Amino acid sequence: MKHLLSAGDLDRDEALAILDTATQMHAIQTREVKKLPPLRGRTIVNLFFEDSTRTRSSFEIAGKWLSADVINVSAKGSSVSKGESLRDTVLTVAAMGVDALVVRHHASGAVQQLAGWVDCHVVNAGDGTHEHPTQALLDAYTLRSRLGDLADRHVVIVGDVTHSRVARSNVLLLNTLGARVTLVAPPTLMPSGVASWPCTTSWDLDATLSGKEHGDVDAVMMLRVQRERMSGGYFPTEREYAIGYGLSPRRLDLLAEHAPVLHPGPMNRGLEISSAAADGLRSMVLDQVQAGVAVRMAVLYRLLSGAADSSTGSEVTV
Ligand code: NCD
Repeated sequence: MKHLLSAGDLDRDEALAILDTATQMHAIQTREVKKLPPLRGRTIVNLFFEDSTRTRSSFEIAGKWLSADVINVSAKGSSVSKGESLRDTVLTVAAMGVDALVVRHHASGAVQQLAGWVDCHVVNAGDGTHEHPTQALLDAYTLRSRLGDLADRHVVIVGDVTHSRVARSNVLLLNTLGARVTLVAPPTLMPSGVASWPCTTSWDLDATLSGKEHGDVDAVMMLRVQRERMSGGYFPTEREYAIGYGLSPRRLDLLAEHAPVLHPGPMNRGLEISSAAADGLRSMVLDQVQAGVAVRMAVLYRLLSGAADSSTGSEVTV
């Protein structure tokens, strides 16, 4: 594996190998000294053209715990604000002798395009409304930690699917791992091409959560309403959105006892998710953040150490 651009790039074996490597990486998160040597002498640049709290810091921690040198470049404060093109910026950074670029960009497809301009490894940390493969991997890691094997598990993803790169990457990866996915959104927030995605869809959250529409639910993943990507009125008022699609305390009670609640963050409390759901016993929101570091360590390790070239590449000396 040279790049990680899409969750669809991963076959079942590769995805499971990353998740297994992440389990080993997770073990060092609880240690006092959290450093492993495998990426010593390697340089990783986080190139972020969009805001980020958890993804960028988690990639930075992941690289540092593997002993790589990690540099952050963001559009604000770089020559991008002087009018430099994406290509010139990327070629300039890559020319410094970088081993991997971790890129977030507001245009769908931009990360895939720039991977063709450089020789180094490229990881997609979110491109527009398209993909966010490491988020899907950390979500799968979190779900497996609660549910075990995901084969035949039913995961319901709810909210602003139209503007979500998290939804698309999750549908692809969960499908690869054998899970069933139902997307629930108001018609205005369901993307037009969704019929070709490997999942079922619904507009009725109550019927889906109670298992009446597509069968029993094993997990619920709430999506943020991405107001910064909305140009018009996708729903009448926030109150009406919360009534129709928010994970309220009443809706939590529709879920089976074992079913966890996930949210990639940042959360709009009171809109797509109530505080009862975000902070309750089912909530795995902080487990997701913790898994993010382990999964990104696993991805960087497998890309940069060459582990992915061997058939039993999930072993790492921890
Ligand atoms: C997501 C993203 O940026 O796509 N957040 C994240 O990476 N943790 C989801 C979101 O912004 O709603």
